[in-house]
Order: sequence, then C-alpha cells, then structure tokens
Amino acid sequence: MSTENSGKKILVTGSNGLLGQKLVYALRQRKDVTLIATSRGENRLKEKAGYVYEPLDITDKVQVQNVISKHQPDCIIHTAAMTNVDACETKREECRLINVTGVENLLSSMHPQTHFIHLSTDFVFDGNKGPYSENDTPNPLSYYAQSKYDSEKVVMQSETPWTIIRTIIIYGVSENMSRLNLILWALKSLRNGEKIRVVTDQYRAPTLAEDLAAACINAAMKNKTGIYHVSGSETMSIIEIVNIVADYFGLDKTLVEPVTTSSLNQPARRPPRTGFIIDKAIRELDYHPHSLIQGLEIIKKQLRENGWLVESKH
Ligand SMILES: NC(=O)c1ccc[n+]([C@@H]2O[C@H](COP(=O)([O-])OP(=O)(O)OC[C@H]3O[C@@H](n4cnc5c(N)ncnc54)[C@H](OP(=O)(O)O)[C@@H]3O)[C@@H](O)[C@H]2O)c1
Repeated sequence: MSTENSGKKILVTGSNGLLGQKLVYALRQRKDVTLIATSRGENRLKEKAGYVYEPLDITDKVQVQNVISKHQPDCIIHTAAMTNVDACETKREECRLINVTGVENLLSSMHPQTHFIHLSTDFVFDGNKGPYSENDTPNPLSYYAQSKYDSEKVVMQSETPWTIIRTIIIYGVSENMSRLNLILWALKSLRNGEKIRVVTDQYRAPTLAEDLAAACINAAMKNKTGIYHVSGSETMSIIEIVNIVADYFGLDKTLVEPVTTSSLNQPARRPPRTGFIIDKAIRELDYHPHSLIQGLEIIKKQLRENGWLVESKH
C-alpha cells in the first residue's frame, strides 16, 4: 500500500499509544506529509486511510532496519516507550530494552541526516525545584526516569539532527483505551462511585495530547533541534487536578481521599514538584497550550462522540 501524499516523510513509532494516535490523526490529512505509522503488533486505530502502517517492535533490530530502509523517512517522531513507571522499576531489563536499546536501534538504522524527535519526561528531574527550564540538570529518581535520561544521552551523542521534547502527564481520549491517563482514571472512578486515593504532595503541569502532538509536528516541519519543554502552562498538585475534574464533570468530591506519596508505597519514587518553563516552546514551536478547563471541554466532547460519556451536568 502507498500513500497519495508527498512532501516530508515522517515515521511515527508507538502509533497505538496516546500521543502516537494524536500524531497519526493530525498528520494523515496533511498534503505536505507522507506518514508511516508504526507500533508493536497490529494497527489498533479505527481510521486506516491516509497513511501506511508497519508493525514495528523497536527492540527487534532487524525489523527496525527493514522498516527504515524500506521507507527512508526524513524524520522520525519517537513516542514508543515503556511508560508505566512502577512496571519499569520492577521489570528493569524490559524497561532498558525498550527505552534505551530501542532508541539505539532506531538511531543506528537511520540515515544520518534523518531528523530524530525523541519524547522524554519531567521525571528526569528530581522535583526539588520545579518548574524546570531546558538548562536545568537532570537527576532521575526512578528506573523509568533513569532509562529516559539515558536515552536522551544516546540521542544527544548521535550525529543526527535531534530534538528532545520533554513533557508531563499526557492526558486525552484515545481509541481502545486500555491504559487510562490521570484524568480519565479520575473521571471513570468517580463516575462509578469508587473511592480514590490521590496525592497532595506531587505537583505537575498536565499536558493535552493534541497540544503535544502539535508541538512535535511543528518541530518536525520547522526542523527545530535541541531540547524543548512542552507541557500545560498550569502547575498544580495532583489532588487539585482531580478536584478540578470532579467539579467540571459534576462528580462527588467526597470520594477523593487526600494521601501523601509515602503512604502509597509505590515501587518507583516520584519527583515532588516538576512543572516546566515553556517559553522556548512558545517562541520557537508556536506552542499555545490549552488551559486544563479548555482541555476538559475537548475531552468531554470526544468522550460524548465515542459514547463513553452518556450524561454530564455540562
Ligand atoms: N504518559 C505520560 O504522562 C508521559 C509523561 C512524560 C513523558 N511521556 C513520554 O511520552 C511518550 C509517549 O507517551 P504516551 O503516553 O503516548 O505512551 P503510551 O500511551 O504508553 O504509548 C506508548 C506506545 O509505545 C508502544 N510500545 C511499547 N513498547 C514498544 C516496542 N517495543 N516497540 C514498539 N512500540 C512499543 C506501546 O505499545 P502497546 O500499545 O502495544 O503497549 C504504546 O502503544 C513516551 O516516550 C513517554 O515516555 C509520557
């Protein structure tokens, strides 16, 4: 199968994931882009027109070489990763294989002029002095964070034009929502009348998946290289975020139990306060994030359209 589009050839990894899906839906319509979507296993997106799909496990070097040499992309937007922070802590080999070796496989298989756009995380920082700028020094606290920091170093040491886009708590509606992001988890639990324990001592700037996808696409189309911090513009505690979700959807806030991070006994340590200074992305990537309330409006509409949300006060 071939696409009818032309222009820049962009290959997206992890196209079944939350950010990957948003990239596919934003890029497949563009006349100035030829899109190759790749992910582990079958294509799980409903819409299959406007792009080529290739199954691609980034830990399989031969497969990576074959797909890249077949399509010769001008740009790779690398979203695929092992993203469950606690699973990374307990399954360290798998985490390293996907998050670091996978990046090495891509970089060693592509043409040295290919623009490599790599997704990374606020968790590379220790969270003692957020919000962070691109010039701050990472100090990862968990195995996931270390693997993402190590992958950044692999990218920075490569000869290729590279961009590292760090982001924070991505939220949004995706197809086949097997993994719920913070906002959908809170919404689903509260709608089902379930009590949830939510931390009061971690601060984050939640990022709408569509906003992040737009920043990645601008980096690709404008050939922007270097490190960019791309997140929502509002940093707040996780419990504040969940309470805003509860208020917005008219749900029972008494189900939200405030807890401290230490009481959860999670395998992986989390940075207490991150948040980003996003001025560089605003200036150079034409990045204009939605507020959390605007983001909730967008996801409410999408949830209604796909039948997930049947009724709401709004
Ligand atoms: N989610 C966040 O809050 C957050 C915050 C900061 C940074 N980030 C970074 O942002 C990026 C995108 O995150 P996301 O939320 O879109 O992640 P996601 O929804 O978990 O999607 C990741 C995708 O990668 C795929 N994948 C995993 N292992 C693979 C492999 N070996 N080969 C090919 N594909 C593989 C997964 O496939 P399956 O669907 O088959 O499992 C999944 O579709 C990641 O690099 C992540 O580290 C995320």
